[in-house]
Amino acid sequence: MTLKETIQQAEGKKVAIGHFNISNLEMVWGIFNAAKNLNVPVIIGVSEGERKFVGVRQIVAVVKSIREEYDFPIFLNADHSYSFDTVKEAIDAGFDMAIIDGAKLSFEENVKVTKQCVDYARKSGKEILIEGELGYIGQSSKVLDAIPEGVDLEKGLTTPEQAAQFVKETGVDLFAPAVGNIHGMLRASKDPHLDIERTKNIRVAAGVSLVLHGGSGTPDEDFVKAIDAGVSIVHISTELRVAYRNALSIALQDNPEEVAPYKYLKEPVRAVEKVVTERLKLFNKIS
Ligand code: G3H
Ligand code: ZN
Repeated sequence: MTLKETIQQAEGKKVAIGHFNISNLEMVWGIFNAAKNLNVPVIIGVSEGERKFVGVRQIVAVVKSIREEYDFPIFLNADHSYSFDTVKEAIDAGFDMAIIDGAKLSFEENVKVTKQCVDYARKSGKEILIEGELGYIGQSSKVLDAIPEGVDLEKGLTTPEQAAQFVKETGVDLFAPAVGNIHGMLRASKDPHLDIERTKNIRVAAGVSLVLHGGSGTPDEDFVKAIDAGVSIVHISTELRVAYRNALSIALQDNPEEVAPYKYLKEPVRAVEKVVTERLKLFNKIS
């Protein structure tokens, strides 16, 4: 099945596909192991910084080789691309989807660059989905002491009217709104609750599948409600970064003489797999 069909199937089943960001090959294995054990589709995400680190064409080859070898629905997303050029690079390289993130731009500028990406994707003749974003939710997947600067959890949320206009003018396949979600996760508490009613209204107004960014730290019950309200893909990054780093630090402390990365990186891979397993169970309503 293509990614488009997989998303349609998820929406029909009222579940969401988990999207997880990676910085290296071992994180890909941790994510894939979890998805394979549960037998659910999964999306690997790489932001501009992550792509630069792992290699644009190289990560395409890795995900494609796993998909083919295991005949498994694992897909690749060019996450948070801030310019037409980086979206074009991802389309040319063979990604399954790409996000043009114009959330910090004016509505008009955002529409303009998003439409440019959609037009290029369509002309390429490739099976690539383009996601657009409207509403600023912060930019970093990290542990936070406060709501990110510039995020307004009241006036800054996306309205159904704006969503409808944005999708109509750009022709995007997927839409990422601001509905109370934030990038990163708060250190001392759960992240704010999501606006479920707004999510439902935006799904109807937009007429395309919704993507929920900033999943780390979101209360579990909010995920379930948001999926029922029309979210088909959920993004998680900070939780994986934290799990990987904590497990790595313990592994190094416990094995001060070990120099073989494939040995001391086993626990970080397991830690990633554990987080992804829990999130995939929740998003796919598996008990
Ligand atoms: O695109 C990446 C995600 O939206 C990750 O957000 O770090 O809050 O999980 P998060
Ligand atoms: Zn995001």
